[in-house]
Amino acid sequence: MNIAVLSDIHGNHIALERCMEYLEGQKVDAYCFLGDYAGEFPGIEAVLRILHRVRESAPCYIIRGNKEEYQMSGLGDGHPEWDAYPSTMGMIRYAGRHLTPEDLAFFAALPVTDCIRTDGMPDIRICHGSPRKVNEKIYAGKDVNKEIFSEVKERYILCGHTHEVMEVREHGKVVWNPGSVGVPLDGSGKTQCMILHGNSETACWSAEFVALEYDVERVVNEMKENGLYQIAPYWALISESLLRGGIVSHGDVLSRAMALCEQENGECIWPAVPESCWEKAYRELIGDGRTTRL
Ligand SMILES: [Fe+2]
Repeated sequence: MNIAVLSDIHGNHIALERCMEYLEGQKVDAYCFLGDYAGEFPGIEAVLRILHRVRESAPCYIIRGNKEEYQMSGLGDGHPEWDAYPSTMGMIRYAGRHLTPEDLAFFAALPVTDCIRTDGMPDIRICHGSPRKVNEKIYAGKDVNKEIFSEVKERYILCGHTHEVMEVREHGKVVWNPGSVGVPLDGSGKTQCMILHGNSETACWSAEFVALEYDVERVVNEMKENGLYQIAPYWALISESLLRGGIVSHGDVLSRAMALCEQENGECIWPAVPESCWEKAYRELIGDGRTTRL
C-alpha cells in the first residue's frame, strides 16, 4: 500500500503538475492532500482542476488548510481602506477573485482533520497544522508536542503548514511533514511531496521524501503575466525569492515589517502594514538583489 502525500500547493500548479507526473509513474494506491490549495501563485483554478481530476480517478483524502479558511471567511472582501496595503492584502484578494462560489462550497465541505484507514495497517491521523488547530505549527522537540500528541489516538500523524520536511518520533508518535509542493522553505528551489509505504507484514508505515526540480522560471513568468508584482509587490518578491531557493518566509518579512511599523507609529495592527515598512524589511532580510522590477 503506497499513499502519495502532498501539502501547501499555494496556487503553484506548475509544481503540482511536476509532482503528479512523478507520482503517476510510481505505484501509488491513494492520494492525500493536506490543505492550502490557494495562496501565493496564480494557478488556483488549475490546482483545483487537478484536485478534482485526482479524486475522480483514485482513492483520495483531502482536508482544508488555513488558506481555505481565509477565503471561506471572506477575509479579502470589503474594506476599501485596505487597498493601501497591497503587499499584505493583495494575494488574499487575488485568490478570492479566482475562486467561484462552488470552490468555496467545496472548501466548506472539506474536513479539517481526517483518518486514513486501510486494511491490516495502522490508522493515520491527517491534519494541516496540528490535529487540534489548522494553523498550529508542529516542530520537532517542542514542549507542547506531548500535549498535542496525547490528544491523538493514532500512532501515525501527517501534517503540513510549516513548509518544512520533517520526521518526528516523540511521545510514542511518528509524525511526518511532506514539506511544500508550491513554496518550500528549505532553500532547495525544488517541489516536494512524499510517498508513504505500508509494510503489511510488519504493519508499519515508512516515509519516502521526494524533491523534484521543475520549471521555476515558468512560475515567475506567470506571476508577471498576472500582475502579481503590482497586486502584492513585496509578497510576490518574497515568493520569487523562495522559488529560487531563498529561506526567508513571508511570515519572517511580515513580522519584521510590523515591528518597523510599530517603531515608527507606536502600534501596528494587521493588515495596516505600510509598503515603506515592507520595503525596509524586505531589503534587510532578503537584500537588494532584486530579480524583478517593481
Ligand atoms: Fe498553511
